[in-house]
Amino acid sequence: MLALLAVGALSLFAIGAVLAKFATADGDFTLLSKGRAKRQRVEGKVVWITGASRGIGEVLAEQFACLGAKLILSSRNVTELERVKTAIVGKYPGASIEVLPFDLASDEETLKDVVQKAESLFSASGVEYMVHNAAYERPKRKALDETEEGLRAIFNTNVLGTITLTNLLAPFMLKRGRGHFVVMSSAAGKCPAPGQAIYSASKHALNGYFHTLRSELYHEGIEVTVVCPGPIRTYTTSGAGSSHSGSCKILLAEMSTPLRSTDHNQSMYHQKGVRSLLLLPQPMG
Ligand SMILES: NC(=O)c1ccc[n+]([C@@H]2O[C@H](COP(=O)([O-])OP(=O)(O)OC[C@H]3O[C@@H](n4cnc5c(N)ncnc54)[C@H](OP(=O)(O)O)[C@@H]3O)[C@@H](O)[C@H]2O)c1
Repeated sequence: MLALLAVGALSLFAIGAVLAKFATADGDFTLLSKGRAKRQRVEGKVVWITGASRGIGEVLAEQFACLGAKLILSSRNVTELERVKTAIVGKYPGASIEVLPFDLASDEETLKDVVQKAESLFSASGVEYMVHNAAYERPKRKALDETEEGLRAIFNTNVLGTITLTNLLAPFMLKRGRGHFVVMSSAAGKCPAPGQAIYSASKHALNGYFHTLRSELYHEGIEVTVVCPGPIRTYTTSGAGSSHSGSCKILLAEMSTPLRSTDHNQSMYHQKGVRSLLLLPQPMG
């Protein structure tokens, strides 16, 4: 009888611990089970991050530098990219970082040049990880209030630019027989969020494209990871995020609780502690 009670108590404790972990985690159990970032997977590899001038891209750049990656940082704003580079080198003096500014909404010829440049950096060792993080999001508005200009602005950057860059870079990876695309999608690419119709549509498009790409290239050594975070509070200006831990855990900006469907303005973001997030590139299956 006592043994039975002990087993019951232990089971209850185990269930409680799992539930507590689930309630406080910012990734699902599959992600949590992957454990800490594995240095050997990225050390010495070339990681190209778009949208690296602020927010998630900036934090990712720092995390990858901490893991010993060689970084290519991209966005349109070269001054901010240089700021990010200087901050990272200040923290990790041995960090290898190149800045490659460009506009993702550019035409194919321009993007072709950008890819050639990225491939030629670091003694032409080639891009191992392409982190598609850049995106354009307009202030929230109802689906029927969206303009054609807004539609084009979002799709040109989030979808067309990202896909074209992928098409241009993938042949280099295929030649080497390895490469990894990491795509920063969004929870908005999974479920509806009022006021985000076009942004959400752009993320759905990315999900569709990259899941298909993965199914086509997986056997040729090319991996694809699609990341769908919920709302994340990020810092947008100089150095504000630098108080984050410099440890090799994949720490991101402060997670907020998901927005309620009826309240979708910024003030709804509740700050919680800094948490690890699902951002270390990992194969999906
Ligand atoms: N923060 C969130 O709550 C959240 C939630 C889910 C998913 N996400 C996704 O996570 C990614 C990063 O989010 P974030 O909040 O860190 O974004 P953010 O702070 O708005 O930063 C966006 C980045 O993209 C770059 N960018 C924008 N338009 C560009 C263009 N035409 N060409 C090149 N670069 C461009 C920006 O740099 P320049 O302006 O210098 O070009 C900036 O570095 C995005 O894909 C976003 O959709 C974010």
